[in-house]
Amino acid sequence: MKAVVITSPGGPEVLQVQEVDEPQLQDGEVLIKIEATAINRADTLQRKGLHPPPKGASPYLGLECSGTIEAVGTNVSRWKIGDQVCALLSGGGYAEKVTVPAVQVLPVPPNISLKDAACFPEVVCTVWSTVFMISKLSPGESFLVHGGSSGIGTFAIQIAKYYGIKVFTTAGSEEKLAFCKDIGADVCINYKTEDFVARVKEETQGKGVDVILDNIGAAYYQRNLESLNVGGRLFIIGFMGGTVTETNLTMLLAKRLTVQAAGLRGRSIENKGEIVREVEKNVWPAIDCGKVKPVVYKSFPLSEVSEAHSLMESSKHMGKILLFP
Ligand SMILES: NC(=O)c1ccc[n+]([C@@H]2O[C@H](COP(=O)([O-])OP(=O)(O)OC[C@H]3O[C@@H](n4cnc5c(N)ncnc54)[C@H](OP(=O)(O)O)[C@@H]3O)[C@@H](O)[C@H]2O)c1
Repeated sequence: MKAVVITSPGGPEVLQVQEVDEPQLQDGEVLIKIEATAINRADTLQRKGLHPPPKGASPYLGLECSGTIEAVGTNVSRWKIGDQVCALLSGGGYAEKVTVPAVQVLPVPPNISLKDAACFPEVVCTVWSTVFMISKLSPGESFLVHGGSSGIGTFAIQIAKYYGIKVFTTAGSEEKLAFCKDIGADVCINYKTEDFVARVKEETQGKGVDVILDNIGAAYYQRNLESLNVGGRLFIIGFMGGTVTETNLTMLLAKRLTVQAAGLRGRSIENKGEIVREVEKNVWPAIDCGKVKPVVYKSFPLSEVSEAHSLMESSKHMGKILLFP
């Protein structure tokens, strides 16, 4: 089969489509013939040699896919050959076929095309497993998501609005902020021209928001704490602004704040299965009724994978970038 190979750690040009062996189906897995995969920011780190796949994962890039089940392993009862699905992967999506534990597979939601279904698994499982399952973001609360026009942000805004949450977001251009507003964000803050702490305080009568989903890390840590309400929860999922910072801790105590961080890829199959089950129960209905939509910025054939990575690293995109084998 064809797959994208990282010929050596480096820029987008090191990605090459090559002929490789098909993955071998194991007990409890299904084999998917891939219709589409999506690019995630983590893929660009893996390409540079900074984010190695976890033990036992495919050596190829790709954390999510949609497609048709082509074979079913032993001890799999839910899925059959021919089912149209999407799946949360530990790798291997940038290829014609992939094997995945059956518990990490979801049905394609009604009214969503097989291709567009590739937009969902990684961002949905990341957002649901963090701010909803752990930080307990709840109806009536307020929520700040940084990078609202990102793959993660466009989903987070829509699902939070579905659950009756007031959504604040940051982005780096007026075009991106207008887009965030269109998909439901209530308060849109240009982080290049405005102080997001001051704006959050102004919009919340000085209180701050209840939950923050952060992909910036060190550069925003202190300001995120300042933006939280009493009992607020900060969930960190990325370090685009660095990993080392010095912070005044008094606010943690005074406001009884919770700070957490987590990665999805390294979790156990059982834990991913639990997240996928919760996602099907709590997020799929929002997609079924059209309140949460796939946001596809651009699609590329597998042969143009280097262009797709360059686009992601330019940060010009809004929503997801898809790849088709
Ligand atoms: N922990 C996990 O399990 C997990 C899983 C998935 C994703 N993630 C992380 O989540 C983040 C988003 O992933 P993605 O795939 O959706 O990537 P993406 O679409 O490339 O999004 C990155 C976003 O960050 C924004 N950004 C950059 N600097 C910013 C700043 N100072 N303030 C606010 N926004 C800023 C960019 O927007 P502007 O152009 O407006 O700057 C861009 O929209 C990444 O950091 C990724 O590593 C973590």
